Amino acid sequence: MSTMGSSSRAIVCLCAILMLSSASPNSAGITSRYVRKLAASEDLPEDNAHVKAPEEYNAPQQVHIHQGDYEGTAVIVSWVTQDEPGDGKVLYGQAQGNYTTFVIGEAYSYSFYNYTSGFIHHAVISGLQFDTRYFYAIGSGNVSREFWFITPPESKLDTSYTFGVIGDLGQTFDSLSTLEHYMNSSGQSVLFVGDLSYADTYPFHNNIRWDTWSRLIEPSAAFQPWILTAGNHELDFLPEFGETIPFKPYTHRFHTPFRSSNSTSPLWYSIKRGPATIIVLSSYSAFGKYTPQYKWLLAALRRVDRNVTPWLIVLMHTPLYNSNSDHYYEGEPMRVIFEQFLVEYKVDVVFAGHVHAYERTHPVSNVQYDIVNGQCNPLVAESSPVYIVIGDGGNIEGLSAESTRPQADYSAFREASFGHGILDIQNHTHAFFTWHRNQDGEKVAADSAIISNKFWS
Ligand SMILES: [Fe+2]
Repeated sequence: MSTMGSSSRAIVCLCAILMLSSASPNSAGITSRYVRKLAASEDLPEDNAHVKAPEEYNAPQQVHIHQGDYEGTAVIVSWVTQDEPGDGKVLYGQAQGNYTTFVIGEAYSYSFYNYTSGFIHHAVISGLQFDTRYFYAIGSGNVSREFWFITPPESKLDTSYTFGVIGDLGQTFDSLSTLEHYMNSSGQSVLFVGDLSYADTYPFHNNIRWDTWSRLIEPSAAFQPWILTAGNHELDFLPEFGETIPFKPYTHRFHTPFRSSNSTSPLWYSIKRGPATIIVLSSYSAFGKYTPQYKWLLAALRRVDRNVTPWLIVLMHTPLYNSNSDHYYEGEPMRVIFEQFLVEYKVDVVFAGHVHAYERTHPVSNVQYDIVNGQCNPLVAESSPVYIVIGDGGNIEGLSAESTRPQADYSAFREASFGHGILDIQNHTHAFFTWHRNQDGEKVAADSAIISNKFWS
């Protein structure tokens, strides 16, 4: 309950007006003064109801889905059975409980130091109709479990669609708050910008914490796809204990449809989903000129038809624009190489994580600089991408509370609180982005902006 008197409110309002009016039109950056606790919260204990293992023998668990092709008519269903492979079937159909069709996927386990996983299943359902609800069931007998998903609308001009945006989630009590807030939103699928479980913060990267994380997200991820990006906490590189293959737990547990976008790596890929093409990049894979990721990105950008998918969205983990003190300038190598293409191909918005805070830029580019001309300052220009840092999912490392000062001209709004974003694409010219902090109800937007389409406006 607020105890602020009317005179105090008037002073706050006056301060806010003075703060806004003192900035130039292109540098009206706001550093939020919102006060919240800064201490990191703890991970949910392994026996917490949101993450504990099922008690029934071989019950399917850790269920999650991902788009399974480029167009949006296939779905990858993934789950784990702990005790034996089972029949590996996914029954599915448009009527709940009345299944005439099934697919059988692959099942395998992997080991990581002294940990051996359960049987990880991946099955692809293809040939689905657009914009249709499908029910699916996995497991048999008394451990059969049912879920559903809705396929995206067919890609064309003026299709509306709502994406959620989450990053650096982890599995703390704050992570749970972020997830529960998101699940009260109208988001139809999640753009996830990397750093999933933070299992690598445990001794020997205790992979049981990959299991608990996958159970935590199941109430959302079994019903709508989480479009995944790999972050540094997915590297799981532990050579001193014989684990020398980067991304081993991540790539075994989470499958992406990379081949359908002609990618050679599950770490970078693209999909069409409703009115948007989503391009997912890997901050921790080679991206220099002539590398596989570099060559693939150019081909993926050329493939986009803005008459079919008017919106072009890029996901990565390390932000190219970030005025927080944490990870400041870490994205510069990729910016130097890739920003020119993001500007040239009129990318609308770039989402990144890594920094445990929220920041939204004005549309900005810095592609004029050629090392001798001195024009090294980013230019705010309406035709350039908007960059949004949203690594504020709530993980065990806590918030990135220190900002660089003065606030850069390109920075429109920044605040160190946990939360999530919603990108509501309304037609081929406009989308509405809102950021929701966990201290507020889901209906409250702590920051909002209309994003105009860079190709169509
Ligand atoms: Fe990170």
